[in-house]
Amino acid sequence: MATVTFDKATRVYPGSTKPAVDALEIDIADGEFLVLVGPSGCGKSTSLRMLAGLEDVNGGAIRIGDRDVTHLPPKDRDIAMVFQNYALYPHMSVADNMGFALKIAGVNKAEIRKKVEEAAKILDLTEYLDRKPKALSGGQRQRVAMGRAIVREPQVFLMDEPLSNLDAKLRVSTRTQIASLQRRLGITTVYVTHDQVEALTMGDRVAVLKDGLLQQVDTPRNMYDKPANLFVAGFIGSPAMNLIEVPVADGGVKFGNSVVPVQRDALASATDKTVTVGVRPEHFDVAGADSDQGVAVTVNVVEELGSDAFVYGTAHVGGETKDIVVRVGGREVPEKGSVLHVVPRAGESHVFSTSTGARLSD
Ligand SMILES: Nc1ncnc2c1ncn2[C@@H]1O[C@H](COP(=O)(O)OP(=O)(O)OP(=O)(O)O)[C@@H](O)[C@H]1O
Ligand SMILES: [Mg+2]
Repeated sequence: MATVTFDKATRVYPGSTKPAVDALEIDIADGEFLVLVGPSGCGKSTSLRMLAGLEDVNGGAIRIGDRDVTHLPPKDRDIAMVFQNYALYPHMSVADNMGFALKIAGVNKAEIRKKVEEAAKILDLTEYLDRKPKALSGGQRQRVAMGRAIVREPQVFLMDEPLSNLDAKLRVSTRTQIASLQRRLGITTVYVTHDQVEALTMGDRVAVLKDGLLQQVDTPRNMYDKPANLFVAGFIGSPAMNLIEVPVADGGVKFGNSVVPVQRDALASATDKTVTVGVRPEHFDVAGADSDQGVAVTVNVVEELGSDAFVYGTAHVGGETKDIVVRVGGREVPEKGSVLHVVPRAGESHVFSTSTGARLSD
């Protein structure tokens, strides 16, 4: 087992002037499950491939434990990788697929069999060891791919969207299996996904990337409660946080007919006359049409989830028409076309600089 350190690791692809990954700095603890997340093209796979040794590092360093692996070939790094396209060898049995890397490494047959059987037990694949991959379900194939990595007993697991070939339901159950397996084995893991729900549910910590730049590394809880900037605020959470540009008022911000109190410090650091307030859908207080509080939201669509419902509406706020999403109780669902008055709940709003995107509130 080992720590993993990205020490200002940078990758500039040949022919490009802009780094695909720009001075990435993350310290990953021994046994930690770290998830790299961000939109397509933000540099997730490039970061992982630098750690794997599949991509040159053009600046900074990468360490596994106290070994500097920046320029080591992949085979000397003691890592095992599970890719999105985990192509299994179709003509080999599950057992042979799982043991292949050990066979190449010259491990003797009895030892390979023992390791494969141990991994199969962990992955619930024992009864399939003699089958060919085509006689397995998608989820079982995915577990064989995991098995290939496990038998090697690496210091670090690297996974690049390993669930993206699975259908939605299987993806949810498999992500739980992978997360619990990782905790049981205690092997430091770096996991890439573009799915923020997967990131929040699986990671001990989550690192959000955008355009090759690290935006925030934090626990899922902190990432949700205190996004560091407008990008993270909009990216983490589903439905997304409402982000609304509003005028600064005395002691708070003006939200329609209400002044929402926000920390004095947050406003002191705002150099603009407006700030962007972030409110999660579950953090509005809702009053009826006869209220004159906050802003009036005209209901366009209601998504009922049983326990609660998401109301998608429009409002005039800060001089423009904005889409607003409000979560309401499952038994308080408004009619389409009706009007709700909403006010951000005190202490639950986030304040960001409109011009720089930086978080201003605590
Ligand atoms: N071999 C390459 N040569 C040149 N540019 C590349 C190469 N591979 C990736 N890039 C560029 O580097 C950037 C980061 O790519 P990367 O594959 O790391 O993104 P990603 O976050 O994994 O995206 P996705 O979610 O789509 O897999 C992109 O702009 C991409 O076009
Ligand atoms: Mg990728």
